[in-house]
Amino acid sequence: MDVGSGPGHDAARLAADGHAVTAVEPTPELREGARDLYGDLPIVWIDDSLPFLEHLTSAGTCPFAFILIEGVWAHLTAAERKHAFPILAGLLSRRGVIAISLRHGPAARGRVVFPVTAAETAGLAAAAGLDTLVNVETGSIQVANIAGGVTWTRMAFGASP
Ligand SMILES: C[S@@+](CC[C@H](N)C(=O)[O-])C[C@H]1O[C@@H](n2cnc3c(N)ncnc32)[C@H](O)[C@@H]1O
Repeated sequence: MDVGSGPGHDAARLAADGHAVTAVEPTPELREGARDLYGDLPIVWIDDSLPFLEHLTSAGTCPFAFILIEGVWAHLTAAERKHAFPILAGLLSRRGVIAISLRHGPAARGRVVFPVTAAETAGLAAAAGLDTLVNVETGSIQVANIAGGVTWTRMAFGASP
């Protein structure tokens, strides 16, 4: 599952690699644009949003082996992040992995972002019964983000073996 799938490129890549993908995106223009662009791929497009993912959870969706949250987490308030983690953990299969990127730095024009830290995110994961598997600091790729001094923490979480 790709949560906050935006233009759908990551969902499409996973689907092209043979995975059954659910893409969750609350912004209609992005969701519909992605569906138009990648309509030939086996992706289920869902209108839903964190923290509650109400449509997805009420549909009784199967557990997911991999949940990707790319460039989304800093758009959530601290309260939303706290609500979201146990819900995401509950959607994960027994050996599943949640991958989250944390954006650090100034917001892009017209966007709102909140401070996020690896320590807070690892704590939320631990409270939901998940271990931190990956915790890596990286720079940006996009030119505007490099110019703005944006950096990232890339994290992954899963149940203890
Ligand atoms: C920076 S874009 C990243 C899009 C995509 N994941 C990517 O990496 O190309 C942030 C995305 O998060 C979505 N988003 C914002 N708030 C959200 C929420 N509460 N729940 C789910 N998605 C959200 C936005 O609509 C947007 O598509």
